[in-house]
Amino acid sequence: MSEDLQIVEHIRELAKQKNAIILAHNYQNSEIQDMAHDTGDSLELARIAAKNDADIIVFCGVHFMAESAYILSPQKKVLLPEKSAGCPMADMADVDALVEMKKEYPDAVVVTYINSTAAIKAESDVCCTSSNAVKIVQRVEGDTILFLPDKNLADYVQRFTDKKIIPWKGFCPAHEQYSAEELKKMREKHPDAVVIVHPECNREVVDLADEVLSTGQMVTFVKETDKRKIIVGTEKGMIHKLQSVAPDKEYILASKAFVCPNMKKITLEKVLKSLENEEPEIRVPEEIRIKALGSLTRMLELS
Ligand code: 13P
Ligand code: SF4
Repeated sequence: MSEDLQIVEHIRELAKQKNAIILAHNYQNSEIQDMAHDTGDSLELARIAAKNDADIIVFCGVHFMAESAYILSPQKKVLLPEKSAGCPMADMADVDALVEMKKEYPDAVVVTYINSTAAIKAESDVCCTSSNAVKIVQRVEGDTILFLPDKNLADYVQRFTDKKIIPWKGFCPAHEQYSAEELKKMREKHPDAVVIVHPECNREVVDLADEVLSTGQMVTFVKETDKRKIIVGTEKGMIHKLQSVAPDKEYILASKAFVCPNMKKITLEKVLKSLENEEPEIRVPEEIRIKALGSLTRMLELS
C-alpha cells in the first residue's frame, strides 16, 4: 500500500472514532479531494457545515471557510489543518474603513462575499457567495449596495441589476492576474472549446468567456454540456474535481498561473496531525460570531 493510501486510511479511521467530518473545497489538491467526506464550493460547504451532526469539522480550505463553519456551528470543534492558509482577498477589507463607508452611505445595504473575515461579516447585512451573489443583490431590500471585498464579483453582479453597486477595491490575486490577451490566445489554439471562468476574473476576461460560474456551477455545467473540450478559467484544483464528475471530457487549464498558494498548504500529513491533536482550532469571539451569524443566516434564507 502506498504511503498516501496508508495516511488516508488512518485519517478515515480516526475521523470515524472521533465523529469528525472532513470537508474540502474544490480547489484542494487531488489527494485531499479524494480523501474528504464531502467536497464543494463555498455555499455547499457552508450548508453542510450548518446541517451535519459531527462533533468535529476538519476544513480543508482557507481560513474564512473554517471560520464560517464555526460561526454556523459553534458547538462543533472546527479545525483548519494549516493555520496560515488565509485568503488575501478576505484580508483586503478593513473594518474601520467599512464603518466609515457605512456612514457615508447610511441607506446602503452591505452585501459581503463569504471570502471575508468574521469581523467584516459582523458589520454586514447579508453575505453571498459566487453562486448566489446576483440572487442576493436582487432579493435584498434597497437600491444601493455596498459590495465587498471583491471588485470583480461586484462588477459581474452589476450586469444583472439596476441597483447601484458601490464596490470595495479587493480582488483575488490568482484570478485578477489572468488577462484577456491570454484567453484570446487560448481560444485561437482551441477554437472548438467552450470557455468557463469564475466571476473573480476581471471584466475583460468575463466579457470573452462563454460561461461565468462558481466552482459548484462549473460542476453542474460539465455534467450537462455536450461540449467535449472545456477551457477552465479558475484555480487549478478545479480540473481534478471536473475530471472526477465528468471524466469523458477534456479540460484545459486557462493558465498555469491559476494557483491559490493558500489552498495548496493543506496536505494529507497535516490533516492527520490536525485530527490527532485536534488543532489548530478556529474560533470567533461570541459577540462577533452572533453578528456574523446574522449575515450568513440571511444569505442561506435568501438563496
Ligand atoms: P466558490 O464559492 O466558487 O467555490 O469560490 C470560492 C473561492 O475562493 C474562489 O476563489
Ligand atoms: Fe482567496 Fe483567491 Fe484563494 Fe479563492 S482563490 S481562496 S479568493 S486567494
